[in-house]
Amino acid sequence: MTFTVRLLPSELQFEVEKGQTILEAALNQQIPFPHRCQVGACAACLCRKVEGDVTYHLEPMLTEKEQAEGWIFPCQAIAESHLVLTFEE
Ligand code: FES
Repeated sequence: MTFTVRLLPSELQFEVEKGQTILEAALNQQIPFPHRCQVGACAACLCRKVEGDVTYHLEPMLTEKEQAEGWIFPCQAIAESHLVLTFEE
């Protein structure tokens, strides 16, 4: 199963395999996705989910408010559907 991830505002698009993290998929496809630690600690990859669903093996440190606002950690998040993500504030 493969899902499509669309990034805003760049409109870059890439595919993510089921079970793969969003960051891993982006980097494999040479997508310039912000990142540093890749283990959910630095927050460099943090962005907001506009559409779609993600799950985590290990829940990231996000408050309920942040989760409600759609913030995700793409280095830890696994796509469960097609996604639209934004780096806009
Ligand atoms: S790359 Fe550091 S938290 Fe995702």
